[in-house]
Amino acid sequence: MAAPTPVSDQWFSRAKAVSPGGVNSPVRAFRAVGGTPRFMVEGDGAWLTDADGTRYLDLVGSWGPMLLGHAHPEVIAAVQDVASRGTSFGTPSLPEVELAEEIVSRAPVRSVRLVSSGTEATMSAIRLARGFTGRDRIVKFAGCYHGHVDALLAEAGSGLVTLAIPGTPGVPAHVTNDVIVLPYNDPDAVAAAFAELGDEIACVITEAAAGNMGVVAPEPGFNELLARTCREHGALMISDEVMTGFRVTRSGYWGVDGAAEGWRPDLLTFGKVMGGGFPAAAFGGRADVMDHLAPSGPVYQAGTLSGNPVATTAGLTTLRLADADVYASIDAWSATAQGLIGDALAAEGVEHVIQTAGNMFSVLWGTSTPARSFADVQQQQAWRYGPFFHAMLEAGVYLPPSAYESWFVSAAHDDHALSRMAEALPAAARAAARAQEDTA
Ligand SMILES: Cc1ncc(COP(=O)(O)O)c(C=O)c1O
Repeated sequence: MAAPTPVSDQWFSRAKAVSPGGVNSPVRAFRAVGGTPRFMVEGDGAWLTDADGTRYLDLVGSWGPMLLGHAHPEVIAAVQDVASRGTSFGTPSLPEVELAEEIVSRAPVRSVRLVSSGTEATMSAIRLARGFTGRDRIVKFAGCYHGHVDALLAEAGSGLVTLAIPGTPGVPAHVTNDVIVLPYNDPDAVAAAFAELGDEIACVITEAAAGNMGVVAPEPGFNELLARTCREHGALMISDEVMTGFRVTRSGYWGVDGAAEGWRPDLLTFGKVMGGGFPAAAFGGRADVMDHLAPSGPVYQAGTLSGNPVATTAGLTTLRLADADVYASIDAWSATAQGLIGDALAAEGVEHVIQTAGNMFSVLWGTSTPARSFADVQQQQAWRYGPFFHAMLEAGVYLPPSAYESWFVSAAHDDHALSRMAEALPAAARAAARAQEDTA
């Protein structure tokens, strides 16, 4: 008798019949690694259970938000309590004020506007920068992803690089004409762009540390240079902390190494962790800039569900629980896991670099030279990742289904989780060693 079709396969067929590619966000579709995406039915701490009852150690963490692990009892209790009294009022409510206070007390922002996704945060920050400066041009870096904002899809990372989508069909040319795309970590390119067009540039937007081309940290002084250059030319620096914010540091702020000397971004964007697994994000910054937002100022921005009590309560509870011990345990687990991965790959002779930014990391395949730009990242043997990914999945470890994404650890990752990693890695490293370019 033939084996029954796995439930995930059955559900994916149904999904494909009613949703483009069967998913609501492209990278989930497993296109870069092959096979059928797993439908998860339960999350518990560091673990996920799929529709067929298989348990996986989770190193995706919903792409970053799950800092405390899945279904943290205090987050769930707070959400249940607030939801039982209504889920959205379309009026001011206290949890949104408390979440804003928590962010303002930690990060270098004087005020924040809450929105529902990281995309909305970066889109709104750019509109605000343009409205404040009266200029149209923006600078972004190749390989950085800031959500699916029209203007910011040019040479973006994340799903665009995973799926090898080269351009941005659907984005009018006049939108991208105002976007200057520069190589990441390249001070000379920044200087040249500002020398030529400095008085037309509204803002520079950069990931505080790039995590959407795999992990590529800013070189010492690079973010500071951006802040300084912007200030010299009357432009604004937007540090996109949607991924890094409250994940790599409790301050919500990875950004600028010269911050102590006052080289701070003018605007910051947040998302992921600050929503505690619900749709919540934010942008904030200098008081004079934020005062340009409606209703205080003329730059319009709004949202029906912005700051709703359920998402803000989940985010607030998560941030309040994220104390120094949480970050210490995540950092330690991440470092140990990196060691295990490095040892397993070295034992099979697989050249690699583990790229890090705080506790975020990813593997660069087939080279021993760290990547500092998108061009470097694209030189890697990404085809080794598919076989590695599937061997890990087979052994019960759920990794990002793309070589171009960061891996995320939670405070619930413990010794048991490390044992699962240690058991899974040797076979996966062998699979990576044996991978052939045309089998990927
Ligand atoms: C740095 C960065 N900015 C913005 C976004 C967009 O956030 P969202 O997917 O919530 O729209 C992401 C998403 O991964 C991101 O990593």
